[in-house]
Amino acid sequence: MKRGFGSDNHSGVSPEVLEAIAAANTDHALAYGDDEYCRRAEQLFRDTFGPEAKVYFVFNGTGANVLNIDAMCRSHHAVVCAETAHINVDECGAPQRVTGCRLLPVDTPDGKLTPASAETRLHGFGFEHHSQPRAISISNPTELGTLYTLDEIGALADLAHSRGMYLHMDGARLANAAVALGCSFRQMTTDCGVDCLSFGGTKNGLLMGESAVVLNPALDAELKYRRKQMTQLCSKMRFMAVQFEAYLATGLWRRNAEHSNRMAQLLLGSLEGIAEAEVVYPVQANSVFVRLPRKVWTALQEDYFFYDWDEADNVVRWMCSFDTTADDIARFVEALRRRIAEAKGRI
Ligand SMILES: Cc1ncc(COP(=O)(O)O)c(C=O)c1O
Repeated sequence: MKRGFGSDNHSGVSPEVLEAIAAANTDHALAYGDDEYCRRAEQLFRDTFGPEAKVYFVFNGTGANVLNIDAMCRSHHAVVCAETAHINVDECGAPQRVTGCRLLPVDTPDGKLTPASAETRLHGFGFEHHSQPRAISISNPTELGTLYTLDEIGALADLAHSRGMYLHMDGARLANAAVALGCSFRQMTTDCGVDCLSFGGTKNGLLMGESAVVLNPALDAELKYRRKQMTQLCSKMRFMAVQFEAYLATGLWRRNAEHSNRMAQLLLGSLEGIAEAEVVYPVQANSVFVRLPRKVWTALQEDYFFYDWDEADNVVRWMCSFDTTADDIARFVEALRRRIAEAKGRI
């Protein structure tokens, strides 16, 4: 399949990551994380997020989110999130099924919770007939490609903590947020009061690297048993650890994310002057959301795979990856222009 704009999950693996996996493919190592590779990676997570950070490698982002929710909540608890949150829309009810918790989704104009909008769901504390709000979950970048600033994250953490709750961040694309905000991973998580983080790398050049990172040690009790119960404990864990080592220790996360964010800006710029392509959210990370006449996007889908994001509103999502090139964008925009001209009956 040619390189397109369907998802940053459609791209392959950074060569540095494959090399790291190959280099670790020697001799034997103890399983389930009890090896030197994992110890080195765990130290890197502490260097990156702070001395108290504890990483749990998992197979996928859904697993990271569910494990973090399980760390924060029991089955009578509830998690406040944006209506568009991955945990609410794209995890097939895994958080509810595995943890028994309720999600309390909030409508947002741009994928972002605010203290005021989150607060609308913070009621019923102590009332045994209501699920008890226990956590706020945000994604950075959001599923709509928008960003929370450090102040906005801090304000949500303050709100959560003032109510005896926790703040979870879904960072499936945390690198894209960090380079866009010009800050370190630690500044946008631990230092803002985030209690636990889903830290992903798969969308940014890893083969299969996701993790739940507990930043508040109070949440760490018994998590290793719960990861196993959730079937997310990997036996040959060294091959996960070395992916993160290549990612964090060599600056690969930054190089890849800077590139995909830059490509999203290039794509955005290339749409200027195309009246039929209306960009509907600020482009702050590596995705571009566009409203298009239906005839145009269905025709363009004959040339390229991409998702209808909101069919009722004719909004589609175009996503750039670490391997997107300027030529890919030029060809894509040319195809778009051709499909628009066809739809107008000029071809
Ligand atoms: C915001 C967000 N969180 C989590 C995930 C991880 O999902 P998966 O379980 O497919 O790895 C994704 C993947 O698309 C995502 O976009």
